[in-house]
Amino acid sequence: MSGFWNLWIAGLVTLNIAFLVWLLFVTANKKKSDQDAGPETTGHTWDGDLKEYNNPLPRWWLGIFYGSIAFAIIYLVIYPGFGSFAGTAGWSQVGQWSAQKADADAIVTREFKRFEGKSVAELSTDPAAIKVAKNLFAANCAMCHGSDAHGGKGYPNLTSPNLTWGRTADDIVATISNGRMGAMPSWQAVLGEQGVVQVANYVYSLSGRAAPDAAAAAAGKEKFATICSACHGPDGKGNKALGAPNLTDEYWIYGSSLDTIKETVTNGRTNRMPAWLDTLGEQKVKLLAAYVYSLAPPPAEAPAPAAAEPTPPGT
Ligand code: HEC
Ligand code: HEC
Repeated sequence: MSGFWNLWIAGLVTLNIAFLVWLLFVTANKKKSDQDAGPETTGHTWDGDLKEYNNPLPRWWLGIFYGSIAFAIIYLVIYPGFGSFAGTAGWSQVGQWSAQKADADAIVTREFKRFEGKSVAELSTDPAAIKVAKNLFAANCAMCHGSDAHGGKGYPNLTSPNLTWGRTADDIVATISNGRMGAMPSWQAVLGEQGVVQVANYVYSLSGRAAPDAAAAAAGKEKFATICSACHGPDGKGNKALGAPNLTDEYWIYGSSLDTIKETVTNGRTNRMPAWLDTLGEQKVKLLAAYVYSLAPPPAEAPAPAAAEPTPPGT
């Protein structure tokens, strides 16, 4: 603020306080002289006979008024408010904010120190890390994916073992860091109404359910192989590089009913997961990735040759 405006404000504050003191002084003095003369009126008359008394101010009220003037003066001595005068306490909003932020940063650094150098897989089994990550999830992700990460229509269920964009630690970190954009084209023009019904019946049957119209599903199978398999794979298991979902499991982004599948194929779908690296930083993204990673059994990251033979259960 320029010097002029500082003086302007300081001048106004002084005038204001001086005026209030004067006003109180005048009204308080009036009290004594008027005491004997009986109730005085202001001279205004309403509705014929309604008059307004001009009684002196009650003492308790005056007390409060003087008190608040004293408070204002003391406040202006201690805290900034009187022009450019910074106040004797040296308090400032920026100072208070910096102090609070420094405290918060110190806690975060101390908390996160324990997680440094640990991999996403390690963090996913560390209860302290998951506790912090759950809070981060509630604050940043739950509005779309739900507080239990089960998602909703248009928002993927993150507890699915077949995440569309991949379930390895690196896949999940990349998804959260950079965001994802899924685009399924509309096939109405190519397939026509009947083609859509056929292909939808086939997709319906892929997740182990009996197609509502078996003959249509059989016809849809061929069309799926020509058009859809390019992205969803020949067996409908999806393609994480393209963000094409697995159509053979019970997890659906948009819904599993025949009508919803028809709607998806007819109109196409586009969807966007925002990028978080800039907002949250590497450390928090890693913790969130660990939380998502912990929601389903870990995938076989790189099939180790020796472990390729599964051990039969119960041995
Ligand atoms: C504005 C809504 C929104 C918010 C907030 C959001 N997401 Fe997403 N997320 C989406 C959408 C939509 C998709 C699906 C993108 C697609 O495939 O087209 C998605 C996809 C994902 C996926 C990939 C799922 C899969 O099947 O591969 C992960 C993992 C994920 N989000 C984690 C998170 C985490 C962790 C956060 C919090 C930091 C978060 N999301 C915040 C909307 C959101
Ligand atoms: C160009 C690649 C591509 C082709 C070809 C394609 N899809 Fe898709 N499909 C996608 C993508 C990407 C998504 C995910 C969209 C999103 O994230 O919103 C998707 C989503 C879907 C879904 C929604 C799944 C769910 O979980 O709700 C269905 C159903 C589907 N596709 C069926 C088909 C059928 C049937 C065909 C063939 C007629 C087909 N798709 C062809 C890329 C493709």
